[in-house]
Order: sequence, then structure tokens, then C-alpha cells
Amino acid sequence: MSDQKIALVTGGVGGIGTAVCQSLVKQGVRVFANYYPAEAEQATAWQAQQKAAGYDIEIIAADVSSYEACEEMVAAIAEQAGLVDILVNGAGITRDSSMKNMDKDSWNAVINTNLNSVYNVTKQVFEGMTARGTGRIINISSVNGQRGQFGQANYASAKAGLHGFTMSLAQEGAAKGVTVNTISPGYISTAMTQAIPEDIRDKIVAGIPAKKMGQPEDIANAISFLSSESASYITGANLPVNGGLFMSF
Ligand code: CAA
Repeated sequence: MSDQKIALVTGGVGGIGTAVCQSLVKQGVRVFANYYPAEAEQATAWQAQQKAAGYDIEIIAADVSSYEACEEMVAAIAEQAGLVDILVNGAGITRDSSMKNMDKDSWNAVINTNLNSVYNVTKQVFEGMTARGTGRIINISSVNGQRGQFGQANYASAKAGLHGFTMSLAQEGAAKGVTVNTISPGYISTAMTQAIPEDIRDKIVAGIPAKKMGQPEDIANAISFLSSESASYITGANLPVNGGLFMSF
């Protein structure tokens, strides 16, 4: 049996997900990038693009807001490759609006995709990791889960919830070789932040001490570290990667 590590990156074909998959491949990991089933055509094109750039990445569909779909996804990975060693919970969406305009669907979509998904996917891999005495779980949260953001009551709730999940599961995994950590990106240059109206985006960037958005690679580098052997004593932590936008201890 191969001793190559296996990673599952949810939201793997997205802006941050792409950089995360690439950096894990560079570490010698066999990577499965999860994508939303309705976007199969884009995911196939993405995979071809990655291959042309030298990154061999497998793609796997699942709506992570569905528990059953996650069960099937992880079972399919087990059949093709084996048990997941590194899980990066990165799938996320925004439905920004002030509370006055936030309908129930926008609330539920964000909570289901950004928070319930993390339970749905992690539940499928955690026991296997603890049984083998090794595993890495990294949850991608957000600076806005730490400090809130006008128009993001749904998103900030989900992202804050992720860190509660991290701290709890870290305690369950600590004695069993499984670390669980959160990364809290600030504003990173991706399609998600491009969707913010330009005038608002400019004001946000002006308020970042680094005076610029981060790059997806800034997040990928932090995830590479947390998923490596060097980070084996770090668990239950939140690592902000935000250009100084929010500082706490
Ligand atoms: N503080 C105070 N007032 C604000 C404000 C703020 N930060 N932002 C907007 N407003 C005001 C506007 O000036 C406007 O005032 P008037 O009514 O007097 O003109 C009013 O609020 C707009 O209110 P609406 O009820 O019409 O707002 P809306 O439902 O249309 O929502 C919004 C507006 C879509 C939330 C818009 O403000 C916006 O896009 N904000 C940016 C949100 C943001 O940062 N999203 C991050 C996306 S990227 C991401 O999430 C990744 C990550 O992890 C960081």
C-alpha cells in the first residue's frame, strides 16, 4: 500500500481552493478537489488546466450541504485511493445583504454551505483519522467571523461557528494524533471579493494595514504548514492571514 498522503479539499476548484490543491500536490500529497455537482463542466476544464500546469489533481463532485452526498464522496475516495489524511474544509459562499434585505433562503444557504457542510464532511473522516492515530483537519474561516461585517450576519455567523467546531474537535483529536485548526483569511483576491461593489471594495482595501488584498497562495502556504508534520503540536488554533486587518490574541 502506498504511503502517499491523501487530501480532500472542499471548494477545491475555487480561488483559494486551487492554490491549496496546488501546494498540497507540491508537498507530494494525492489531492481530491471537491466541486459543486452543477459545475461539472467547469470542474473538468479546471482539472485539464491544472494538468497542463503540472498539477495532477483528482476532482470529485458533492453538494457539501448534503450529508448523504458527503458520505458518498468520502466512500468513493476510499474506494479509489484510501482514507483521507488531510481534510481542508474550504467550501463557502456569500449572500451579502443588510438584515433588512436578508431573506430566509440567504440565511439558510450560507449556514448550510459554510457551516453544516463542515460537520457533513468531517463526520465521514474523523473516526478513521483517530483510529489510525494521525490526521489534519483545517477549517477555512474568515476575518469576518472574528470581527463581523456589515451585510454578513449569515456569513459571519457561519465563520465564527467554524472556530467553535475547531476548538471542540481539537480536544477530541489531540490525544489521538489528529490536529484541528482554523485559518482566518482576510480579503483575498478571488472571484468572491471581486463580487463586492468596487467603491466598497476600495474602502475595505484602504482599511487594511498592508494596503492590499492577500493572494490565494498566502492562504495555501499557511495550510501547507498546518498540514505538515512540523505542525503536529498545533491544535485548536486560529491562524489569521489578513494583512493586519484584525489583530487579537
Ligand atoms: N457601515 C455602515 N453603513 C454601511 C456600510 C458599513 N460598512 N456598508 C453599507 N452601508 C450603508 C450604505 O451606505 C447604504 O446607506 P444608505 O441607505 O443611506 O444609502 C446602506 O448601508 C445600504 O443598505 P442596504 O440595506 O441597501 O444594504 P444591502 O442589503 O444592499 O447590502 C451590501 C449592502 C451588499 C452588504 C454592501 O454593503 C456590501 O457589499 N458590503 C460588503 C460586504 C463584504 O465585505 N463582503 C465580503 C465578501 S468577501 C468575503 O466574505 C470573503 C471573506 O471572508 C473576507
